[in-house]
Order: sequence, then C-alpha cells, then structure tokens
Amino acid sequence: MASRRYHLTTFGCQMNEHDSERMQGMLESLGYQEAPSRGEADLILFNTCSIRERADERFIAHLREAAAIKRRAPGTVIGVGGCWAQSVKEQVFQRFPSVDVAFGPGQVHKLAEFLTSDSLTAQGYFEFESFTGDLPAKRARAFQGWLQISVGCNCVCSYCIVPSTRGRELSRDPDVLVAEVERLAADGVSEVTLLGQNVNSYGRDLARERRIPFSELLRRVDGVDGIRRIRYTSPHPKDMRSDLLQAHAELPALCEHIHLPLQSGSNAVLRQMRRTYTRERYLDRVAEIREQVPDCAITTDLIVGFPGETERDFEQTLELAEQVGYDGAFTFIYSPRRGTEAATLAGQVEHEVKVERLERLVAVIQRRAAERAQRFVGRTLEVLVEGPSRTDPSKLRGRTRHNKVVNFHGIGQAGSYVQVDITSASSQTLTGEMSILACAGR
Ligand code: 5AD
Ligand code: SF4
Repeated sequence: MASRRYHLTTFGCQMNEHDSERMQGMLESLGYQEAPSRGEADLILFNTCSIRERADERFIAHLREAAAIKRRAPGTVIGVGGCWAQSVKEQVFQRFPSVDVAFGPGQVHKLAEFLTSDSLTAQGYFEFESFTGDLPAKRARAFQGWLQISVGCNCVCSYCIVPSTRGRELSRDPDVLVAEVERLAADGVSEVTLLGQNVNSYGRDLARERRIPFSELLRRVDGVDGIRRIRYTSPHPKDMRSDLLQAHAELPALCEHIHLPLQSGSNAVLRQMRRTYTRERYLDRVAEIREQVPDCAITTDLIVGFPGETERDFEQTLELAEQVGYDGAFTFIYSPRRGTEAATLAGQVEHEVKVERLERLVAVIQRRAAERAQRFVGRTLEVLVEGPSRTDPSKLRGRTRHNKVVNFHGIGQAGSYVQVDITSASSQTLTGEMSILACAGR
C-alpha cells in the first residue's frame, strides 16, 4: 500500500510553528509523507490560533474547504489541533461534523494514538499531558531550530486567550533542553530560538534542585559548540531583570535583539490590561537595555482600542512609541476574545476609531523604525543567509543579529554566515553588498 499522506496548515505564532514541526516529525515517524496539496492528502491537519477574531475566521474558511474535499473523498481524515481547538473543545464536533480528531497544544501525541487505533468515532483530547518539544521534529530550515523551554502562561492579561488555551506555565528540565540543543547543533543547527509564552519566568515551577533562571539557561545554551546565534521570545517586561541584560552583554551567541511587548503606553489602560507594570517602569527597562546593550534592537507588540481607551490614553501610546524609537513593532486592533475579562468590560471602542488609531500608530512606528535603521548604513554586519530575496531573485536574503532582514548582492548557501556592507535602510529591511574583505573563511 502506498504510504499515507498528510497536509498541514499552520496559523499563529512561533510556538505553533514549533508545534507543527513536531507534528510533522511524529507523522513521518508513523510513515506518513507530506502531500503537496490538501486535495491529495489522506489526513488534512490544521494547527490553529485564536489570538484574535481574524485568526478564527481565516481558519474556518480553510476548514470549510477541507470539508468539501472530504465530501468528495469520504475516507479523508480531518484533524484540528492548537489553540482554537482547545478554546472550543468538544463543541468543535457539533459545529463542524467533518472533523474527526481535535486536540489542544499539550495533546499532539494523541494524534498518533488516534491514527494508529481502529477508532471510527470522532475524538477530542484537551488535557495537558506532555510537551510537544519531546516529540521528534521535522525542521523547516536545516540551520535553524526552535527550543520549547516552557508551555503555558501564569499571567492574567485581561485581553488574552492564551492562558486558557495553553494552561498553567510548565518548564522543561534544563538538562533536557541543553541535550536537545547539543543534538540540534550536531545536526547542523547554528541558530536556536528559545520559545515560551513568558520566557523570563522560565524555571519557577521546577523543583528547587532543578531550577535555574532564564539567564543561566541562556548561558548553558551559549556554551554548546556550533551555536552561533541565540534568540528568544517573548519576555514579559515585569520579569525583565538585570541578569538577563548581563547575559546579553556577555554571551557571544546571544543576539542584540529584545522583543519587549508594551501593549499600551497609558497607565490606566495597562492597569485594565493587568500588565502589572507602568509606562515609567517600562521606560526604565528600556533605558537599562540601552545602557547595558547599547546597539540592541528593541521591538514590541501594541494593541489599540482596548476597552475604555480614550484619545488621551492612545496619545500616550503614540508618545511612548516616539520616545522609545522601536526597531519594529507588531500593531494590533483589540479583538474581544471569548472567556476573557476584557471582553466583558464597558467602553468597547468603535471599529472606525480603532482603525484610525492603528493607522496613526503604524505611521509613528514606521517613521521611527526607519530612523533607527539608519544607524546600520555604512556598517558591515554578519548576515545569516536564508535563501533568495523574495522581491529580487538576483539577490540573497538573510538576517542580521538584530533580526533585520537584509537583501543583498552576493553568493552564499542558505545557512552560511556572510559579511554584508549595508548601503541603505528602510523601516523594514536593509540593503547591501556582500563585503569583499570579509568573504574568506566564512
Ligand atoms: N486583541 C488584540 N491583540 C491581542 N494580542 C493578544 N490578545 C489580543 C487581543 N485580544 C496581541 C498582544 C500580544 C500579541 C501576541 O497579540 O499584543 O503580545
Ligand atoms: Fe500562539 Fe496565542 Fe495563537 Fe495560541 S492563541 S497559537 S499561543 S498566538
């Protein structure tokens, strides 16, 4: 019999990308192969996100298409994993009878159990049982690896669905993590990204004798031969301590980039969001970063139109964005999420007002990012080659340690490190020429 084929679509964040690589690794160890399109698959899988309403809507359109395929080929199995599945649980089967198996982010291994059993009835698996990070991975890029350091989140941000979809925070054992990085390095990975909902609270749930702070975990990962770049996402400003900045200053592989989600520049809104810091404390953190790691890129997440956000509150976000001068930001329109505290708050902001605020915010973010990026012009930066440029195939595309995309003329295999002379910079990308002086030996 020809081997069975799967098709997987991933929505959402980097943790979902990680989880999808594990899903693929697990399926391939069961003998499944990847199908080039949904129509050619025996198993149609979705790894879903529920962070904003748009994420739900996008996924449901795809699910309808899969249901139509199944009507033509009734043997097709449809599986739905991830945060959306976890947030609706068993209801998925009533709302979408074409779904055969549904599972939350802590239940990916159950998919294998379902596929290898003779079960003909639909099954849902939603209690956390194990880290997806323990499953085998099929990496999207040979030279880059994810490292799931923890799952879940103990924060209570009032807008956010994640604590309810990914559960309480659980950390993986440091020795297991370091062993995994050693395996990744032996397998050709030189850039590793540590993932957690709140990375800098890593380890607090571990037994005392196993517990190490996040900065120490970074130190151990930095010590693994072959690892040239370490990234992590995301830290919470409330848990940003000086030991982490010390690590940035000291560890050669740790990249000069910190993604520090602000969400709002207004103290009143931050309080309603239950972020547990003020704009002043956030600005202190930024000042500390700039002092300890002067060239560090700082990026952020911002939400406009949170319930009760006044024009004055919003102006404070604009002011703060102006003041910090982010290297980049993800900007979002507030989206009420089922089961969250903020969805029940009075003072929901009108959609037109949210859109108008978003546009004003994006303008400030882009102008400041473009200004900040000028500091790279005239410098020679180390770039990890990712492949051909998306806009101009005669060029290569790669990333600096600051996580800036660079399009440049030059030669280099994906996964190699080259030196690039930066000739111009916009808010999003840098442009350059591969440096003639520094090609040798790279
Ligand atoms: N509405 C809009 N944006 C949200 N985010 C999280 N929840 C919501 C929501 N309900 C944003 C936050 C977070 C990022 C991953 O998504 O900015 O940092
Ligand atoms: Fe990731 Fe949050 Fe979406 Fe879940 S809901 S996939 S944690 S962005």
